[in-house]
Amino acid sequence: MTLGRQANLAKAMQNKLFTFREMDVNDVNACLAFLREDATHGAIRTVWHLAANSDIQAGGLNPDVDLQLTFLTTYNVLKIMQALKIPKIVFASSSAIYGNHDGALHEDTGPCLPVSNYGAMKLASEGIITAALERYLERAWICRFPNVIGSRATHGVIFDFLKKLRANPESLEVLGDGAQEKPYLHVSELVDAMLFLYERAPEKLNYYNIAPETGATTVRYIAEAVVKAASPGAAICYTGGARGWVGDVPKFLYSTAKLKKLGWSPKMNSNEAVELAIRENM
Ligand SMILES: NC(=O)c1ccc[n+]([C@@H]2O[C@H](COP(=O)([O-])OP(=O)(O)OC[C@H]3O[C@@H](n4cnc5c(N)ncnc54)[C@H](O)[C@@H]3O)[C@@H](O)[C@H]2O)c1
Repeated sequence: MTLGRQANLAKAMQNKLFTFREMDVNDVNACLAFLREDATHGAIRTVWHLAANSDIQAGGLNPDVDLQLTFLTTYNVLKIMQALKIPKIVFASSSAIYGNHDGALHEDTGPCLPVSNYGAMKLASEGIITAALERYLERAWICRFPNVIGSRATHGVIFDFLKKLRANPESLEVLGDGAQEKPYLHVSELVDAMLFLYERAPEKLNYYNIAPETGATTVRYIAEAVVKAASPGAAICYTGGARGWVGDVPKFLYSTAKLKKLGWSPKMNSNEAVELAIRENM
C-alpha cells in the first residue's frame, strides 16, 4: 500500500545525501540487505518512523490492516534497528491512543483505552518502543499528533470534502452531525515541532502531544469553509449522530503545556490551519 507521490520528493532527490528506496518495512530481510549494501548506512543514528495505516475506518472493518501496517511496521522497524545497532527512534503516534476522556488530554491522561484498532496498535507501538529502551534503544521521541492537515493531503476530512464536491458540486454529505470537534495542526508546524523536540527534549524517553495551542475546530466549520471555497451554495447534508464513524473520537482537546514549557508554540490556531489547508488543496 502506498500513499503519496514520488514527485513530492523531487527537491530532496537533488540532494546527494538523500537516498530513496521504495520498500515494505515489514520485509525485514530486504530492508537489512539494502541498509547493509552501502557502508554509509552504518552511520545511521536515528530512524524517523512514520509508516502506518492512515485509513482508520478500513482498520476498523479489518483489524489485520492495523496489525500489519500500524503495529508490525513498528515491531519490524525496531528489529531492523536492533540488528544494525541504530540507537534512536522518532515515532509518529496519535491522539487515538487515549480514547474518550473529558477535558484536555495531557500526556499522562489515563487510562489509555483506545476506541479504534488504529489507536490500539499505536498504543501497542508505544509500548514496544518503551520496552526496547530497556534493552537496546538509547533514546526515543514519541510524538502524539492531533489531526494533521496541509498540502499534499492523501486523506482526511478536507481531502474527503473536496473530493466529494468535485464529484457532486451541488451537495456535500457530512458523516455525523457536524458537532465533532478536534484540534487541527498544519503539517509545516508539525514538522517544526518534531525537529524542535528531537533537538531539545532531553530525556531517554520523550513523549509529547503536538497540537495548536488553543481550541479545536468543528466539522461543521470545516464543511462550511470548504463549500465556501470550492462550491459556494452547495447544500450540506449531515448524516446525523455524534460520531463520524465507529471508532471515531468525536471531541477532544489537547493540552500542549508540556511542549510549551520546553519552548515550542505553533503560530496558527486550529481554524487558521484549516483555512490554509483548504486553500492548499484546492
Ligand atoms: N494525518 C494525521 O492526521 C495523523 C494523525 C496522527 C498520527 N498520524 C501518523 O502520521 C504518520 C504519517 O501519516 P500520514 O497522515 O502522512 O498518512 P499516509 O498514509 O499519507 O502516510 C503513511 C505512509 O506509510 C506508508 N506505509 C504503510 N505501511 C508501510 C509498510 N509496511 N512499509 C512501508 N511504508 C508503509 C504508506 O504507504 C504511506 O505512504 C502515520 O504514522 C500516521 O499514523 C497522522
